[in-house]
Amino acid sequence: MIRLSCAVLLFALACPTRAQVSESIEEGIVRFHASAAAASAMPPSFALVRPFPAVGPAPENFPVSVSFAREGGKSVATVAVPPGTSLYGTGCVTGPFLRNGQSVVTWNTDAYGYAYPAASLYQSHPWVLAVRPNGSAFGVLADTTWRTTIDLTSQISFASDGPEFPVTVIERDSPLEVVRALAVLTGTMEMPPKWAIGYHQCRYSYYPEARVREVARGFRERQIPCDVIWMDIDYMRGFRCFTFDPQHFPDPRRLNGDLHGQGFHTVWMIDPGIKAEPGYFVYDQGTALDAWVKRADGSVYQGEVWPGMCVFPDFLRRETREWWGTLYRDFMATGIDGVWNDMNEPAVFNVQSKTMPEDNIHRADPELGGPGPHARYHNVYGMMMVKASRDGVMAVNPDKRPFVLTRANYIGGHRYSAMWTGDNTADWPHLEESVSMVLNMGLSGQPFAGPDIGGFAGNGPSGQEGVLFARWMGVGALLPFSRGHTGKGNIDKEPWAFGPEVEATCRQALERRYRLLPYLYTLFHFAHADGSPIVRPVFFADPLDPALRSEDDAFLLGNAILVSPRLVPDRSRVPVLPKANWAKFDFGDGANPDLPELFIRPGAIVPTGPVMQHVNEKSLTDLTLLVCLDDKGEAKGVLYEDAGDGWGFRNGEYLKTAFHIRRVDDLLLLRIAATEGRMRRPWGDSPRTISVRVVNAPGLRVVQDESVTAYLAQQ
Ligand code: NOJ
Repeated sequence: MIRLSCAVLLFALACPTRAQVSESIEEGIVRFHASAAAASAMPPSFALVRPFPAVGPAPENFPVSVSFAREGGKSVATVAVPPGTSLYGTGCVTGPFLRNGQSVVTWNTDAYGYAYPAASLYQSHPWVLAVRPNGSAFGVLADTTWRTTIDLTSQISFASDGPEFPVTVIERDSPLEVVRALAVLTGTMEMPPKWAIGYHQCRYSYYPEARVREVARGFRERQIPCDVIWMDIDYMRGFRCFTFDPQHFPDPRRLNGDLHGQGFHTVWMIDPGIKAEPGYFVYDQGTALDAWVKRADGSVYQGEVWPGMCVFPDFLRRETREWWGTLYRDFMATGIDGVWNDMNEPAVFNVQSKTMPEDNIHRADPELGGPGPHARYHNVYGMMMVKASRDGVMAVNPDKRPFVLTRANYIGGHRYSAMWTGDNTADWPHLEESVSMVLNMGLSGQPFAGPDIGGFAGNGPSGQEGVLFARWMGVGALLPFSRGHTGKGNIDKEPWAFGPEVEATCRQALERRYRLLPYLYTLFHFAHADGSPIVRPVFFADPLDPALRSEDDAFLLGNAILVSPRLVPDRSRVPVLPKANWAKFDFGDGANPDLPELFIRPGAIVPTGPVMQHVNEKSLTDLTLLVCLDDKGEAKGVLYEDAGDGWGFRNGEYLKTAFHIRRVDDLLLLRIAATEGRMRRPWGDSPRTISVRVVNAPGLRVVQDESVTAYLAQQ
C-alpha cells in the first residue's frame, strides 16, 4: 500500500512514479522505499539474515514516517523525531552514549588512538534506536552499504553516497523489544564457546614463545583467572598470514598443546593483506585463483600493510571466500582455538584515504549485488572476511563453536564474529567511552563487544598508569568481551605489571567475572536466543525516568545486575541510578574503591558459582543464588547450562532451570519453577548444592521444597 505524507503527496501528484512505497515485512515492522522504482531496484541486503518479502501494506496508523530526497548528489532519508525522544545506536562511535545532536559517517576506518569526535571508526551500523518520552520506541535501519552520514542534530537523517535505499522501521512498546526485533531481522549471535567468555590476555605482541609461556605461567602462579592467550602479528614469518616465525614460534602445535594443558585456549591473528611475493603459498594460490581485488583498470590492486606491498582477497566472491576458508585447515590443525581478523577495513598504509581506492572493483556474487566499486562494498569487506574465516574454521572443526574477533564489520556482522572497539588510548576519556561504546554496540545488534582493557595507545597518564589500569579492569571484567591489550613498545600491562595493589584489584575484578559466569553464560544464551543485549543502559530499568536517559557510566548486566563504576580519576561524578530499591552487594571485595559498585534488582535471582582460574576448571557443584526480594517478598531467575562447546544444545542437550523464592513469615521457600532441556545433569557424580544469599533479607532460613530435592536427585 502507498502511504503519503503531505509533502510527498504534492510531489507524487506532480511526479507519480516518485511516490514512496511502504510495506509491512513483519508485525510492527515497515519497510519504506523512495519510490516504486527504488523498491524494484532494491539491492540484496547485507544486514538482514534473509530477504524479508513484503507481507502486506503498512498499517494505516503506523506512527513513523520516512521522507526521501536527492540532495547534493546524495540519497537522503529523513525521519521526524517527536520532542523529548532519546536517540542511541549508530554502532561503535566516540562521544556520549546519548546520540542526540551527534553526527557520524559510516565508513570503516583504521582510527588509531581515536579522539572524540571521530566521524568514523572501524564498523558501520546505519541504525538508530529512538526512545520516546513515554518509553515506547522505534528503530530505523538505513539498508545501504555506501558511505552514509547519520545526522542526529535535529531529526534522524541518513545521507548516502549511493543510490536510493530502503529504510526499515521497527515500532515496539519498549527499547528492549526494538533491539530484539532488530535481531529478528539481522539474526542473533551464535552461542560462543564458553572459554571465550572468560578473561583474555593479549598484547602486540607476545613473542617469542618463551614470553607467551611466561605470561601464561604468571596467571596461574598468581591465581589470577584467565582463559585465553592471544598471538598478535609477530608470530608470523615476516607478517605473512598463515605462517609461523621459525625462530620465535618453532613449534606452535606444542605451544598450543602446552597452553591447553594449563587450561588456556589460544587465539591467533590473521589479516587480509597478503604479501605480494611469488613463492609465498598464499600469494601463489590466490593468484592462481584470480582471488584479488582489482583496480578500476582490471589490474591487481596492491597496497602497503605490515609485510610491505600486499594484495587483498576479494571476499565479496564466493570462490575467494571458500579458498580463504581452506587456508585455516593446516593453521587450526596446530591446535589454535580462535581467530582474530584485524586491519580488515581494509587498512592500507601511506595513503591519505587509509584504505584502497574507491573505484577498485569487487567481483561480488550476483546474490550479493554483483560486480561493483569499492565505494559500495568497503563497509562490508571486513564482514565478508569474517564470514569466510568463520566458515573456514567451522569446516575444520565442525564439532566446535568457532570464535572469531573482528575489527571491521557492518550491521548484522555479529552473526559471524565478536568485536572490540579498536585502538583506543590509555587515558581516562577512553575508559569512559568503553562503556558507552559497548552499550551502543549492544543496542545496534552486537552483544559480544568489549574495549582493549587498559587502552591500546600509550602507557597512560604519567603517575596514574596503575590506577587507570585497575579501574579499567574493574569495569572491563564485567563487559561481554573482556580482554587486556596494549600496543607495541608500551610498558607491560599484565595484571601484575603495576605492583601488588593493582594486581589485587585485577584479581578481585576477574574473580567477580568468574563467580558471575553462570549468570553471564545465561545472558549469552539469551543474546543467542532472542537478541537481548548482554549489557544494557540503566534507562532500560525504567524507560520513563528522563534522568536515566543519558547515564553512561553505570550500566546493567542483563536485567538483574546494576554496575556503577567510577570512570573519572577523582571519583567525583556519581552515576544516576534507577529509583527502585536495587540492593548493593559484593563478594567481600566491596571496600575496594577501584572496583565498580554492584546492585541487584528487587525480584531477581542471580546464579553464581565458585572462583575458578578458567571456565573449565570446576563444574558447578556449588551453586549460589544471589537474591533480592521484591516488595512482595518474591524473586525469580534463570540458569542456562550446556556443554560449553559443540552443538548438542541445538538438540536439547542443555538445562534451563527457573528458580523461584518466596518469603513465608521468617522462612524463604526455594522452588524449581520449571526446567527445560534434556542434558544429563551437569553435577554428574558430585552432587550439586544450592546455597541462597538474600541480599536484602540476610539471616532468614531457606527451605527447599520437594521440587528442589527432585531436581538435585536427577542424573
Ligand atoms: C591493529 C589492531 O587494532 C591492534 O589491536 C593490533 O595489536 C595491531 N593492529 C597489530 O596487529
